[in-house]
Amino acid sequence: MADAWNPTQYQRFADERAQPFHDLLALVAPVQRMRAVDLGCGPGKLTKLAAEHLDVAEMTGIDNSPKMMAQAMPLRTEHLHFSLGDIGQWTAGADYDLVIANASLQWVPDHRFVLGRWTMALQAGGQLAVQVPANHDYPSHTVSAALAREEPYRSWFAGHDVGDPVAANVLSPQSYAELLDTLGYVQQSVRLQVYGHRLQSTNDVVEWVRGTSLTRFQRLLSAEQFEQFVDEYTRRLVGELGDRSPFFFPFKRILMWGRLG
Ligand SMILES: C[S@@+](CC[C@H](N)C(=O)[O-])C[C@H]1O[C@@H](n2cnc3c(N)ncnc32)[C@H](O)[C@@H]1O
Repeated sequence: MADAWNPTQYQRFADERAQPFHDLLALVAPVQRMRAVDLGCGPGKLTKLAAEHLDVAEMTGIDNSPKMMAQAMPLRTEHLHFSLGDIGQWTAGADYDLVIANASLQWVPDHRFVLGRWTMALQAGGQLAVQVPANHDYPSHTVSAALAREEPYRSWFAGHDVGDPVAANVLSPQSYAELLDTLGYVQQSVRLQVYGHRLQSTNDVVEWVRGTSLTRFQRLLSAEQFEQFVDEYTRRLVGELGDRSPFFFPFKRILMWGRLG
């Protein structure tokens, strides 16, 4: 399947997307000379920032998008590495101090299994810091999911699952809190936070999701089909949200942190 990630499009709202990452890093308790991994590291800029902000002996960024990896690779240093890999399967032998994942876990199913595997990679006292979007009930997501179920789009997707991964995969904050407890995190913090983004206009919501949630449609369509889908999506989204300038985009996210005993 095509790699529909476009690092340039994704980074159009880099400042807005970075804020939850800073908030996530602020949850991490300082430990000297950490061995850390950033799962779903994307273009690697935030991985580099984390490596600089935290006292890491080694930081590895992992992502399964060759286009994202191509952006990240030039950032490599003696202490900062990147490699292609599937975060849904990733684990290691209890020798990491920190697992971070910012806006990536939502793309994989079965968070109980996946967070269990990530936890197995941590040594005693190790920390997990994960941020996932939780805005599946907002029109930016509901309108595209509903449109994909209509013809002709439904036939274009030819039976592929184009359901919203945030709706399908992301658990409630309470469920993550229970899961962290079950997995042995003796300290934890789980919160739902609304990030309010002031965008230039309602149309910027489309530009935002082009860099993320619309990629799941793009990878299955020709360029013309995708633009037709986006045109209709834009028409309906603007109809629902109103044609406003500026536009206030409220974006719910779950930030979770835990520390093993
Ligand atoms: C929204 S981006 C977040 C990137 C980065 N963490 C940041 O905050 O800028 C999501 C990233 O998750 C990656 N991703 C999605 N599913 C993945 C999987 N199964 N294995 C590895 N990476 C995955 C995508 O390639 C993409 O780079």
